[in-house]
Formats: sequence, structure tokens, C-alpha cells
Amino acid sequence: MSQDVYRLIGPRGNEMELPVHRGTTGPDVIDVARLYGEKGVFTYDPGFVSTGSCKSDITFIDGEEGVLMYRGYPVEQLAAKSSFIEVCYLLLRGSLPTQSELDEFETTIRRHTMLNEGMLNFFKGFRYDAHPMAQLSAVVGSMSAYYHDEMDASNPEHRDIFAHRILAKLPTIAAAAYKLNIGQPFMYPRNDLNYSENLLHMLFAVPAEPYEINEVAAEALDLLFILHADHEQNCSTSTVRMAGSSGANPYSAIAAGISALWGPAHGGANEAVLAMLREIGDVSQISKYIDKAKDKKDPFRLMGFGHRVYKNFDPRATIIREMCYKVLEALDPEDKPLFELALELEQVALKDDYFKEKNLYPNVDFYSGIIYRALGIPRSMFTVMFALGRSVGWVAHWREMISDPHGKIARPRQLYVGEGKRDYVEIGDR
Ligand code: ACO
Repeated sequence: MSQDVYRLIGPRGNEMELPVHRGTTGPDVIDVARLYGEKGVFTYDPGFVSTGSCKSDITFIDGEEGVLMYRGYPVEQLAAKSSFIEVCYLLLRGSLPTQSELDEFETTIRRHTMLNEGMLNFFKGFRYDAHPMAQLSAVVGSMSAYYHDEMDASNPEHRDIFAHRILAKLPTIAAAAYKLNIGQPFMYPRNDLNYSENLLHMLFAVPAEPYEINEVAAEALDLLFILHADHEQNCSTSTVRMAGSSGANPYSAIAAGISALWGPAHGGANEAVLAMLREIGDVSQISKYIDKAKDKKDPFRLMGFGHRVYKNFDPRATIIREMCYKVLEALDPEDKPLFELALELEQVALKDDYFKEKNLYPNVDFYSGIIYRALGIPRSMFTVMFALGRSVGWVAHWREMISDPHGKIARPRQLYVGEGKRDYVEIGDR
């Protein structure tokens, strides 16, 4: 890191020099950590639009140039050549594995897919229509009860076991949540299948008949998981780091991340895209909804468009767009008109001045929802799919955060705008 400084000039000639840190790549970062101690002021940055919360060597994003790299490898190369499991290894361990390292890692994940039988009882306690994200968050939280004794965060071996359990068991929990919703028996995992194939099996197989895995479907899921695997300090990852920074059990921190991901401005967007397409209903209604999205008095937004970081294009969207066409071609899904509507909406918005001026492009979730739907995955499961991919990013960031010898509990400050001091008024006098 360089020793450049940033000079802050406050009221009454009050000056301060703030160190500037330079990362491997990306914008410089002004270190304001001494500001309150020395000058008694806080910084104010709602939504953390200009704030770096930590140092990290996991993922790099350049929103202007549409760059996304995991451990230095461009996501385009990983999408073309790697598998989700290999990307998991890369994110967790920092480098690409040799063949034997990959085989050993994949075997470990495949051998930990089963849930403790007692955990299945949780699903009996949910209502049949419980949202699968709520089930996922609750059951992952419950892992802190099951695996409490083997979870000493200062023990690297325990941290590895935690990582393997999250990666291996999340698909099983996700599939169990889905089976509860549709009233089908829970399907046990099959360790002879790879990550994405096994997920398809647990979601769609039934004990009464054989289930044939569609290779295009498995390939599409694997690609989506690679593209969702990490995205540096996004809302859910920051939530995991923040919850974990108190020393909380990491399964609980992951459960908190799942809850954060569920919101429609984050992982819930892919679900919201499909809801929006159903609401639009027909190609003839597109211009009406484009106008609604542009109308500041109307809360309607074009879901799946825009991104906090990518202000040029979302590189994940470019990759997944191709897969979207491949899946629609190979699977010829029943509700094809919905997909045609989505593709027409994409074209109209891309040509519209409002969207062009504000750099609003389709994000990864615009296409992911369409692919999931074509695979037969219901809308309520879309964000669950996102969570499966992102789980490795959450774990990698939790490990990085907890291994930092200078780590502190995350505790932001505020700009207080409430009442000044006032005296308590007896209830009869109010
Ligand atoms: N439709 C219409 N207008 C939009 C949209 C949209 N989807 N997105 C942004 N805008 C407009 C805003 O109204 C604002 O206009 P203004 O400058 O005239 O006030 C401008 O573009 C900037 O938008 P902000 O909300 O300030 O941008 P921000 O970076 O805070 O928000 C976000 C990014 C939340 C993703 C936003 O674009 C959005 O709500 N998109 C739809 C939801 C979505 O697809 N979320 C998925 C994100 S990807 C992910 O989580 C994996």
C-alpha cells in the first residue's frame, strides 16, 4: 500500500492528513479510521456508496468497465472453462486446484450432502406453503445447534469443516424446502452425481420412477452458480461479515446472509422479474410499463435492470444471456410466450433513452429467472438458487474476516436527527 495522503480541510482551518491506500487495482481508498478519535467527526455515507468496509483479496469488480474477477481470474474464463466446484475451491483456497486437489475437494463435498435425520423434522414444522427462503434461513440457522461443538472459529480445521458442510448440505436443504412446498417425498442426495446434477435429482426426482438428468439443465445451473459465486461486499456478504464479526456462530451468520439476500433489491430480483413479466402479460403492454418505470411518481421499476456497481454492463448478464438462448432452444419450455415477452422487453428498454442515459442494463437476474423458469424451477425457488451459488462467497468472506488478526466487530456510527434531550411526561399529562 502506498503512503499518499488526502488533505481534509475542516472549519476554522482545521486540517488533517488522511492516509490513502492503494489496492492491487481499483480506486484508491482514503483511510478515515483516525477521524473521530482525532477530530471528533464521523463520515456520512448512507448505503455505503463510497465506503470500503474491509480489505479483501477474494473478488474484484470494476463497475465502469464491466469486470468481475475471482482471485484474479476473469469470470468469463471461469464460466467457459471451469466448474462450480472448482470455483468453490478457488474462492476458498485462493488458487486453482491441481487435478488431485480438485478430486479430493469434490469427494469431500459429495460425501457431506446428507442431513442429520433429525434436521428433517424441521420441515414438518413449517406450513406446506412456507417460502423456501424462510425455510433455508431457518434450517441453516439450526445448523448452529447441530454443529456447535465442532465450531471453534479460531481452529482452521473447524473452519474447513464448516465450509464443506455449508457447500454440501445447502442443496439438500433447498430441495427439501421445495419438496415440502409441493407435497412430494424428500429425495436423498446421490453422491455419484456432481453438484448441479444432484440438485436436479433432489428437486425433480420422485421415488416412483426413474429420473433422467438433462445435461443442458445441469450445465446451465452450474454456470449460474459460477456467476453468482461471489460479488465482493454486496448486501448479503456484508451481512455475513457483520454478523460474524461479533464472533457469532458462522452458521447463524450465513442464515443472516440468506435473509438479506431475499430482498427484491438484491437476490429477490430474479423472482421479481418473473412477477413483473406476468403483470405485463403481453408484448402490447410493454410500452405502458416502460413509461411506468420512467415515471418518478410511480414506484414501479423495471426489475432485472440496473445495478449499484455495474454502470456500463453486467458481465454476468452477457454470459448468461447466451445460455438463456441455449436453454430455451434445448428445453422448449411450455410458457414460451413469457420468454418472448422478456426478450422483447429487453430490446425495447435497451433502445430507450431513459435507460441508456442512466446506464440501466439487464443484470444477471433478468436472465437467471428466465432460465430457472425454463428448467421448471418455480419462482419461489429462484432466490434459493442464488443462495446456493453465493454460499461459497459468504463462506470465503467469513473465513477472511475471522482470520484477520486486526479484525474488529463491525459497528457503524450515525448522524442523529431525533429530538434533543427532553423530560419524561407523566401519562396523564400527555
Ligand atoms: N427501472 C427504472 N428506473 C431505474 C431502475 C429500474 N430498474 N433502476 C434504477 N433506476 C433509476 C432510478 O430511479 C434513479 O433515477 P434518478 O437518478 O432519476 O433518481 C437512477 O436510475 C439511479 O438508480 P438508483 O436506485 O439510485 O441506483 P442504485 O445503484 O441505488 O440501485 C438497483 C441499483 C437497486 C439495482 C436499482 O437499479 C434497482 O432497483 N433495480 C431493479 C431491481 C433489481 O434488478 N435488482 C437486482 C440487482 S442485481 C443483484 O442483486 C444480483
